[in-house]
Amino acid sequence: MKILVVGSGGREHAIVWKLAQSPYVDEIFCAPGNGGISAIARCVPIKAMDIDGVVEFSKETGVDMVVVAPDDPLAAGMVDALEKEGIRAFGPRKDAAVIESSKSFAKWLMKKYGIPTAEYQVFDDSGKAIEYLRNKEYPIVIKADGLALGKGVIIAKSFVEACDAVNGMMQGKMFGSAGERIVIEEFLEGTEVSVLAFTDGKTVVPMVSVQDHKRAYDNDEGPNTGGMGTFSPSKVYTDEIARYCMKHIFMPTINAMYEEGRIFKGVIYFGLILTKDGPKVLEYNARFGDPEAQVVLPRLKTDLVEIFNAVIDERLETVKMDWDDRAAVCVIMASGGYPQEYRTGYLISGIREAEKDPDMIVFHAGTRFENGEFYTAGGRVLGVTALGDTLDDAIEKAYNGVEKIRFKDMYYRKDIGRK
Ligand code: AMP
Ligand code: GLY
Repeated sequence: MKILVVGSGGREHAIVWKLAQSPYVDEIFCAPGNGGISAIARCVPIKAMDIDGVVEFSKETGVDMVVVAPDDPLAAGMVDALEKEGIRAFGPRKDAAVIESSKSFAKWLMKKYGIPTAEYQVFDDSGKAIEYLRNKEYPIVIKADGLALGKGVIIAKSFVEACDAVNGMMQGKMFGSAGERIVIEEFLEGTEVSVLAFTDGKTVVPMVSVQDHKRAYDNDEGPNTGGMGTFSPSKVYTDEIARYCMKHIFMPTINAMYEEGRIFKGVIYFGLILTKDGPKVLEYNARFGDPEAQVVLPRLKTDLVEIFNAVIDERLETVKMDWDDRAAVCVIMASGGYPQEYRTGYLISGIREAEKDPDMIVFHAGTRFENGEFYTAGGRVLGVTALGDTLDDAIEKAYNGVEKIRFKDMYYRKDIGRK
């Protein structure tokens, strides 16, 4: 088989790495990919949002399956465009990807189908939003409706902060058109855990649980990022909670989408918070998380091509999924300044040395390969991942790997896995 993976980050590297282990695979392409991916796949200079380019390339090259990994091409209908040309594609169609690309849709769906989530209101008018905020309890959560690189959520501690957030999103356009409509919701307290699941629209198979670290600095300080590290499994996500979530959240969500005529096929990501009133949904994503994929896929023993085929053909119930019992940890090494301004183009050393340990994988998030060397090319640069018999083992190994790697102005959190 020839497979094309769309995207260019650490998540895509993890997907390509896992696909490359499949006996079904002859050749993998990645559009546009990155330096690390180019070692195991043929990178083609087509942007992830270039729907016509991806369709054209797939037809010309005779690609057997396209895996659409990032949120924006899914929301823009890349899967629909591929299917229209008879090309097999993994990922939800546009009408199902809306579960991530519109927070107001996701909230409406949960309310209609009784799926536990925070109380909320939707606003298209900033004056009405501010009126609503007057007599509320704080903190309160303000969310841009659309896609905002995982940064469109503001937790306001006071009325003044909440007004700033509303005005910033709706008038200041801090998240562009994503913030023209906003969701204001109740602040929930609890431990956050993420569960990704494969689904063919009828069957849901949850993957092993993950926790991430969204803030830039140790002890959850500093600005929000796309994610500075992950670990799997989560200690707080017990079998009992998993059973509750399957019954009250996972199946009801997939069934709700089916009822609405928006059959969801692909990976659905449940961002959960375990409150004193039980698990609730904070958000849905319509794809693998990044860097969640980097700890989940190394623990997957089952052939990923088999799973993707079963999802596309709507026979996921026929696949038996096996997981490695070991824990996995991914530490993101980032460019100094990320998530704000940062420089790129610095030489990276030590990757090969770090990878000498067979339980280590260095996933590339933002690198370029030139004349036999890797250079930094993004905010998140590497995701140094290790498997270990216990979480502590995995943490120790991952940081051993991190210590071997160097590039100018690099930074990383030192407390990944210690939540
Ligand atoms: P989201 O993109 O919706 O997952 O939000 C990003 C982060 O904001 C989450 O991971 C939480 O840490 C936080 N958050 C979102 N919604 C709430 C809420 N209702 N209560 C408390 N924290 C929240
Ligand atoms: N790491 C969170 C996400 O991929 O949305």
